[in-house]
Amino acid sequence: MISQESIQQIQSKIDIIDIVGVFVKLKKRGANYLGNCPFHNEKTPSFTVSPTKEIYKCFGCGKSGNAIGFIMDHEKYSYVEALRWLANKYNIEIEETETSPAFKALQLTSDSLFIINNFAKDFFVQSLHDTEEGENIALSYLKERGFRKDIIDRFQIGYNPQAKDEFTTKAIEKQYNKDLLLKTGLVVNRDDKLTDNYRGRIIFPIHNQSGKILGFGARIIKSNDKSPKYINTPENEIYVKSKILYGSYFARTAIDKANECLLVEGYTDVVSLHQAGIENVVASGGTSLTVDQLRLVKKFTNNLTIIYDGDNAGVKAALRGLDLALEEGLDVKLVLIPDKEDPDSYVNKIGTQAFIEFVKNNKKDFILFQLEIALNDAGTDSSKKAIIVNQMAETISRINKAEDFTRRQDYIKTVSEKLKIEENGFNALVNKVIRDKMSKEEFKSTKTNFSEIENPTPSNDNIDQLLYKDEQHEQALVRCLLEFGLMEWDNETVVADFIFNQIDESDLSDFFDNHLLIEIIKMYRKWFQEDLKPNSKTFLYLEDKQISEIVMNLMHVELEISPNWKEYYDGHIPTREELYKEEVFSIVNYLQLRKTRRLILQNQLELENSKNIEDQLILIQTHQHLKNIEIELTKKIGTVIIK
Ligand code: CTP
Ligand code: MN
Repeated sequence: MISQESIQQIQSKIDIIDIVGVFVKLKKRGANYLGNCPFHNEKTPSFTVSPTKEIYKCFGCGKSGNAIGFIMDHEKYSYVEALRWLANKYNIEIEETETSPAFKALQLTSDSLFIINNFAKDFFVQSLHDTEEGENIALSYLKERGFRKDIIDRFQIGYNPQAKDEFTTKAIEKQYNKDLLLKTGLVVNRDDKLTDNYRGRIIFPIHNQSGKILGFGARIIKSNDKSPKYINTPENEIYVKSKILYGSYFARTAIDKANECLLVEGYTDVVSLHQAGIENVVASGGTSLTVDQLRLVKKFTNNLTIIYDGDNAGVKAALRGLDLALEEGLDVKLVLIPDKEDPDSYVNKIGTQAFIEFVKNNKKDFILFQLEIALNDAGTDSSKKAIIVNQMAETISRINKAEDFTRRQDYIKTVSEKLKIEENGFNALVNKVIRDKMSKEEFKSTKTNFSEIENPTPSNDNIDQLLYKDEQHEQALVRCLLEFGLMEWDNETVVADFIFNQIDESDLSDFFDNHLLIEIIKMYRKWFQEDLKPNSKTFLYLEDKQISEIVMNLMHVELEISPNWKEYYDGHIPTREELYKEEVFSIVNYLQLRKTRRLILQNQLELENSKNIEDQLILIQTHQHLKNIEIELTKKIGTVIIK
């Protein structure tokens, strides 16, 4: 973990123009900078960077974020990787908070495994090219299959000699630790002797996002019934199969450009397609996709095209896991390769152009394909249809992100046509599945989702509906805190002191409906008390995307006032900065008033339902008391307005 101090140190150095400028040519335009968006193709620039707000926004494709977000998006880095990139750029030494011995040991093991793997890769590459055995047995095999030298080099393909322990001996000579060698899977213990695990095999190194080697796939050269075709690295500190997509290191820029990721099964499929010039391709290793792998794809693109052999029994199994892809918001298409071929053999057979055409013309929609298979299986058995209808409703209900609404409606239309059922009825069924799921989830977590903040779901209750409209005020207060919190309130205190005095931490939830805003206030308070001087920037660069996004929205790029407008307003227009005390005061008052009015309503309801005279008396007294507070607050607001 990088310490909060280090993060703030990095933040304080961040110059978004400088950072974005590394990747985009920017021109000054008014208070902002303008350039061609690096995230989509455009000829007239609509990519705007605001140095004062420290955020960028593209008015063409809608992408927006802060400097760290830009590095994450552009370089496909994780949050921590982006921080390290920035620290490196600004020569800041990062302080790690996590120094537990267990964590250090883990770091050490991972680093060691990477070092051994890199050593092994060099050894295998050398064995392939610079030994007689390698050339005669392995290189000739690869050439026979049509792999070119430049591609073999790019993927760092190698060879492990047949002798029992050639690699092992070299590694021991280097004094690598035996336990670590066993961990890498390169070496195994046979009859109490360490021996090479991949003897006589072609070696495919598997790279992570930054090109470091996580592990290997080792292919037998002459097929043989006794041993498996491939041996893969066992799970260890760095090789976590469920998070790996083979080829992603070589494919990332091409996927970005094509805005599509092709997914194949095997190592050779990836390598052959690359050789054919089709570079936006990764492999899953023949098992069904995991959520982590889907998220990796999602970092690059929303469009996933799966290319499998048509007669492969694995297709159905692989498809089963794909409902997860819908939840991730991926648009999944499926292409089946005919005639017992796989992508590797097929592209070699028909050539690049024909292969591209084939993929283009044979994309099946994943959901419709599922339906097709289910209908075929059901045959004429009409009782099975009900099951299919429910299954399809379940599948479609997973397309549930707000931005995917139209896509979902399209599916509802097409699927109900294919199933020959009433569209409205099917629509209602899908909605019911979604509602059921949502109420289950609401139960699980009370955290508000960012998309719900802009479009809060009004409950049936009228009161609630009315009060939801007030979220602007909650937002306004948080914005004031972030912007003016450290500015003077009176001789001794600052704005944040005033706000925290008026709005007690223990009843934040009486003042705020939005849980995320409450979280922001709590974090601010903590850092404020620790004298870390929080401001909007502190939140813009948080790892929690929901929070940094909401803060970014609060502090959105303001539109520049057009020159005509300025001429029209000849005199002085007071700025928010000049009126900050009034603003804070009136918003705090407003929220207090809102809280009081809610209590009055609640009290009235209780009064209506109460049958007991004594209770009623107490409730009436409470009402009086609350009404007095309401009058006081209204007066205060009045004075500000008059002023
Ligand atoms: N696989 C594996 N272990 C096996 C067989 C297969 O891990 N015993 C994985 C490998 O990632 C392999 C993929 O499944 O690349 C697809 O298997 P297959 O189609 O049999 O191999 P190809 O990649 O097509 O290899 P080749 O073209 O050399 O036959
Ligand atoms: Mn193959």
